[in-house]
Amino acid sequence: MQNDFSQILVTEEEIDKTVRRMADEISRDYEGKNLVLLGILKGSVVFMGDLMKRLSIPVQIDFMKVSSYGTGTVSSGHVDIILDIRRKNLADCDILIVEDIIDSGRTLSYLAKYLRDKGARSVKTCTMLDKPSRREVEFVPDYVGKQIPDEFVVGYGLDYDEKYRALPYVAILKREVYEK
Ligand code: PRP
Repeated sequence: MQNDFSQILVTEEEIDKTVRRMADEISRDYEGKNLVLLGILKGSVVFMGDLMKRLSIPVQIDFMKVSSYGTGTVSSGHVDIILDIRRKNLADCDILIVEDIIDSGRTLSYLAKYLRDKGARSVKTCTMLDKPSRREVEFVPDYVGKQIPDEFVVGYGLDYDEKYRALPYVAILKREVYEK
């Protein structure tokens, strides 16, 4: 499988340091609030699991699933909600949306507005990886692990055709793997 990658872009060690740094910031900022981590399936699950373990404040978790991509590498530019959040007390929740990666920005800008409109007390966003050069809509996340160049990356939750999600690091997929 290592043969499919041209480079390891973020090592396990760097991921661990990054998650701890983000968890410290979030723990500080959400002290005394009612933090709900909202993971966006499926890519966020690995980061979400690591992040929640490192928080030093009480936390609840929830999940939503949306689709913004078809299979493969091309963005359709459209967001559908496949699994919605169901909470009666959204007005008491400080929601932090957790993503593995931001690309066009469409998913997070849509979801942040959706959750505010639905009545959440506060909505912020958190992503392990950010590709700012790919933005199609203006969007700045509140917490960012690492900004990366416009390469096709997999691992640490990110897939190509559902493969590679369980890798403990982030790697650049060779062009020949997704263009064959
Ligand atoms: C990825 C990622 C974000 C979205 C980001 O999910 O997890 O949800 O794309 O792209 P955007 O900024 O262009 O909207 P994907 O649709 O690949 O689903 P998955 O998490 O189930 O792999």
